Amino acid sequence: MKTILITGGAGFIGSHVVRLMVNKYPDYQIINLDKLTYAGNLANLKDIEDKPNYQFVKGDIVDSNFITKLFEEYQFDGVIHLAAESHVDRSISNPTEFVFTNVIGTVNLLNAARHIWTDNTEGKLFYHISTDEVYGSLGKEGIFTETTAYDPHSPYSASKASSDHFVRAYHDTFGLPALISNCSNNYGAFQFPEKLIPLFINNIKHNKPLPVYGKGENIRDWLWVEDHARAIDAIFHEGKAGETYNIGGHNEWTNIDLIKLMCSIMDRKLKRETGTSEKLITFVKDRAGHDLRYAIDSSKLQHELGWKPSLQFKEGLEKTIDWYLENKEWLKGVTSGDYQKYYNEMYKDR
Ligand code: NAD
Ligand code: TYD
Repeated sequence: MKTILITGGAGFIGSHVVRLMVNKYPDYQIINLDKLTYAGNLANLKDIEDKPNYQFVKGDIVDSNFITKLFEEYQFDGVIHLAAESHVDRSISNPTEFVFTNVIGTVNLLNAARHIWTDNTEGKLFYHISTDEVYGSLGKEGIFTETTAYDPHSPYSASKASSDHFVRAYHDTFGLPALISNCSNNYGAFQFPEKLIPLFINNIKHNKPLPVYGKGENIRDWLWVEDHARAIDAIFHEGKAGETYNIGGHNEWTNIDLIKLMCSIMDRKLKRETGTSEKLITFVKDRAGHDLRYAIDSSKLQHELGWKPSLQFKEGLEKTIDWYLENKEWLKGVTSGDYQKYYNEMYKDR
């Protein structure tokens, strides 16, 4: 019996990781710690909330006293740390929040793990989930490997880069058994509609303008979220402490091509005349410091741990669009209340 802490388990990726772990490992006790910010939603975990090996704890990783007590109470064997402020545009509006949660919150967790694992690190692991955005921006050529130098540009990626450095420092300085993975852009069910794919699905559905930043030429490498969760499972169980693993889909799309593909799929699904949704495309002021291109080389993970993506992108995108169209109540729930305020504020000057 192992007790595993998953932070940020009520968020997008975290909820998929919690579901996978709870279902696949009945002999693990999974504790999901989440503050339930705007991005955390217990409705993401309805199907597993009554499982005997699952428990939810509401709390803030920035509160060091609370974190210390939690670790003393549960004596975790492993930590999978996903809790974070995760949206680049929000980090441009409010960078400090990103320093609190992503940097200080991570250091609080590292301190607590170090404290309870002082005498025996055997079988223990602190697994920090990070992003490819720490590596900066690529030009037309090149690909991020595990040894690419860090060069973050947004307050979000700067805060994630900082937290990655702390994790490595705790491994090197204190011998904390820790590892990191850096993943490319995820898509799939339960993603909050502030990120490109769910935002545009929701806007197309409601015939609202599709705000494309700049010329839509930026490139992202998209991975289905359940493939990310499978990679996290593999790395948590077979990865080596002190190592870094890149995770990506080898699936690069310019934003504009991706958006046109989404428009054509949605025209078909909503029985609209071909070309109808594309008319909603509106080019708006570019994001400040907008990284041009991300692309991940995940060959280390593929060769060492045998992981590879299971789903082709077009199939994954169809599945994702179907999920958002079918789960009307979920979408309505997360786009009511403060969401309108957020949306108006974020897009008012564009
Ligand atoms: P998300 O914004 O959907 O979820 C974040 C979760 O963390 C939410 O449930 C929120 O309530 C919780 N949280 C925020 N602040 C907290 C705090 N102070 N204390 C406790 N809980 C708190 O994020 P996501 O997209 O699921 O990303 C999860 C992790 O994966 C992040 O660390 C992110 O940097 C990383 N990541 C995301 C992507 C992506 O494409 N979304 C890609 C690579 C890496
Ligand atoms: P996003 O989903 O925010 O992820 P990230 O910035 O972390 O890669 O954005 C993906 C791409 O889509 C990015 O190049 C910015 C662009 N984008 C838009 O053009 N319009 C939008 O309204 C949003 C949210 C993103």
